[in-house]
Amino acid sequence: MKKILFAASEGNPFVKTGGLADVTGALPKYLDQETFDVRIILPKYLCIPEEYRQNMKYVTEFHADMPREQEYIGIYEASVEGVHYYFIDNEHYFAGNGPYNQIFEDVNKFAFFCRAVLASLPELGFCPDIIHCHDWQTALIPVFLDAFYRESAFYRNIRTVLTIHNQKFQGRWRIDDIENCRDLPSHYRYGAMEAYGETNFLKAGILHANRVNAVSETYAREIQGQQGGEGLDGVMREISGKLSGIVNGIDVAEYDPKTDPRLKANFDVKTIARKKQNKAALQAALGLRKDSSAMVIGIVSRLTRQKGFELVREVLEEMMNTLNVQVAVLGTGEEQFQDFFRHFDWKYPDRVSATIGYSEEKAHLIYGGADAFLMPSQFEPCGLSQLISMRYGTIPIVRETGGLKDTVEPYNEIWHTGNGFSFANYNATEMLAIVRYAYDVFCNHPKDWKAMMKRCMSEDHSWKKSAGKYEKLYLELV
Ligand code: ADP
Ligand code: GLC
Repeated sequence: MKKILFAASEGNPFVKTGGLADVTGALPKYLDQETFDVRIILPKYLCIPEEYRQNMKYVTEFHADMPREQEYIGIYEASVEGVHYYFIDNEHYFAGNGPYNQIFEDVNKFAFFCRAVLASLPELGFCPDIIHCHDWQTALIPVFLDAFYRESAFYRNIRTVLTIHNQKFQGRWRIDDIENCRDLPSHYRYGAMEAYGETNFLKAGILHANRVNAVSETYAREIQGQQGGEGLDGVMREISGKLSGIVNGIDVAEYDPKTDPRLKANFDVKTIARKKQNKAALQAALGLRKDSSAMVIGIVSRLTRQKGFELVREVLEEMMNTLNVQVAVLGTGEEQFQDFFRHFDWKYPDRVSATIGYSEEKAHLIYGGADAFLMPSQFEPCGLSQLISMRYGTIPIVRETGGLKDTVEPYNEIWHTGNGFSFANYNATEMLAIVRYAYDVFCNHPKDWKAMMKRCMSEDHSWKKSAGKYEKLYLELV
């Protein structure tokens, strides 16, 4: 049995701000249980809902040497669908309103978490063959492992994998101001950990991890180029021998139109006509005009520049004036985009609905009831929303970048192939043109539209294939 420990800052169902939680919450379930003993370790944030916190069991507590003082580390555990979770408790660090706060607090908090994970292993009696780290928040684990633990027999053979879900976020801050890194030898702090005069957790992790992967093949290529590298493209090219791309899957049990209890009418590819009832229910729930001929475009997203909302802002007015579309938005993020959607909700009360907030309930209503799903991202490491949409027969309209390029095959009206619509350049006019094209197919070629819905729903976007790739990667390492 190979022992794998996932270390992450988010995990469904305990704490989620985006796709990272979907991945860490689902992938362990899909790894071969006969070969791998997979456990997950997360911070025990105070913002984890009470119902989950109450069901955590106390395991142990101890004090560990940290630069500030001997610090308390409590360990709790829980089990979800057969997956074993550990939680690191220390309210000095994990008491914020959400998992992330100000960056200067977060760097110190996650440096603590990385140290606490390593210090906990002997207390748990769990010596993983591989620690699988995710994003900058856990990228220092391979670094602390090399700097402080390699002499000890317990830790000597532990291997590390670092998955990059988003290279834009790197954990950057002033080198000398991160208390929990202060005792690292200076050739670390000013060597692997330094980029452009600052500490860079992600860069350090990339250099120290045994293997690095990005969440789609295209993104693995993009981050080696100047445009996608976010300043680390040189590093990525340097380590390209240990870098790969593995596309995400989705939890097909959680996102299943056939059984989803949040839908008005459950359906599958054979009963696809019932999706209409979900569209009507969505329109009713959001106060949109009851109009089956309008093309309902869904958006469920962090409202940030990454997601391409600058393009939407440029052309939404024209879209509303020239097409019979309705727009259902659910998201939180930058004020500028929240305000923009609120304004359209006010201006077109029965055609645009903006819910500024986070809601699983509404997300499922939109995935289940919309006709199309818009995701014109500036960059997208993988993207799960387009995969979830397809599972519900909601046709994605995306920009060809990162994982969107790898998962959405553009519609071909001659060959009757494809599972969505896509455009290449980051340009609002191009986006509008492709929305118009989708609208034309929706209105004037309903049979083709329906055939595409069926193709979307029949495709396998589960974790099965990609879990196999992670298994292979683990086995190569141990
Ligand atoms: P990212 O991780 O960059 O935010 P992904 O497409 O990989 O983008 O994953 C986003 C996940 O978060 C999806 O499961 C999506 O449904 C969910 N999500 C995003 N915003 C919201 C929201 N406001 N309410 C509910 N779910 C949301
Ligand atoms: C990040 C990316 C998103 C990806 C998710 C899960 O948040 O922005 O594209 O799907 O991580 O890997």
